[in-house]
Amino acid sequence: MPSNETTVTCPVCELPLYFKDESRKTLVCDSDHRFDAAKQGYFNFLTGKGTNFLEDTSAMVQARDAFQSRGHYAPLANKIAEIVRGHQESSSLDLLDAGAGTGYYLNRILGTSTATNHDALALDISRYAMRRAAKLPHTLALVWDVWRRLPSADASRDVVLNCFAPHNPAEFRRVLRDHGLCIVVTGEPDHLNEVIEPLDMLSVADGKLASLVEKFDANDFQLKHTEQLTYQMDLNTEDLYNLAFMGPAGHHLQPEELRNKVQYLGEQRVTASFGVHVFIPKA
Ligand SMILES: C[S@@+](CC[C@H](N)C(=O)[O-])C[C@H]1O[C@@H](n2cnc3c(N)ncnc32)[C@H](O)[C@@H]1O
Ligand SMILES: [Zn+2]
Repeated sequence: MPSNETTVTCPVCELPLYFKDESRKTLVCDSDHRFDAAKQGYFNFLTGKGTNFLEDTSAMVQARDAFQSRGHYAPLANKIAEIVRGHQESSSLDLLDAGAGTGYYLNRILGTSTATNHDALALDISRYAMRRAAKLPHTLALVWDVWRRLPSADASRDVVLNCFAPHNPAEFRRVLRDHGLCIVVTGEPDHLNEVIEPLDMLSVADGKLASLVEKFDANDFQLKHTEQLTYQMDLNTEDLYNLAFMGPAGHHLQPEELRNKVQYLGEQRVTASFGVHVFIPKA
């Protein structure tokens, strides 16, 4: 791909966007819509649009980064990367991570894939998350709401990843190639069950598999397979603090109160339990 081309489409008129010049700091389309990179390298496509969703705050994203960098979710990252490698058919791999957060899982896929060309889009409503994702190799980080039309052309992705984030199966299907994979990760009912109540966390368990499958089935997807990944994590008080703060409860938890609670609890053995659901387009 020539260096000024991208695989991103304009959120206003849907024409392809390309970099205005070598600095890669401005995206433009042929209708002259223009988007300048923030100084941290991400592009905010939601400017002026407003949105009903609360973005993850800087403190929440920092907590997620700190927790993930301690490796507690590495088995999940490895599982996702293994699924992608097992499916990889060509030398190029075009990815889209919807609700990417810091891009932790995307990074693992990019770091372990055997493809020689990579193109990744990380989408998230949080500017703070996209600041971090913008540092990943081969990745354009875009502030965007996954409930809207995704800024990617029809059939432009080999893999759509969607971990603990809102699902938009109609759009996932539109941007996915016919041979592609959509990997959806949800929390199982026993995920973090030892600490949800003592730390005032909100459960991330995402309803029943049947209703997830129904939503995807209605949008031309079939479930290829689903795997449950369950293991125990030994968490110190800092990990517990970050775990509580990085989740949806981070919007309302008071840091001081949370510090006291984790000190009182002390080190804990906590269950991690994920459902990894692999959807493919119907034949
Ligand atoms: C629980 S975090 C998961 C992040 C990442 N996938 C991970 O597992 O590390 C959920 C993410 O979804 C993002 N999010 C929530 N609503 C969104 C929306 N409507 N559009 C895009 N991102 C959204 C949040 O900002 C947050 O980064
Ligand atoms: Zn445009």
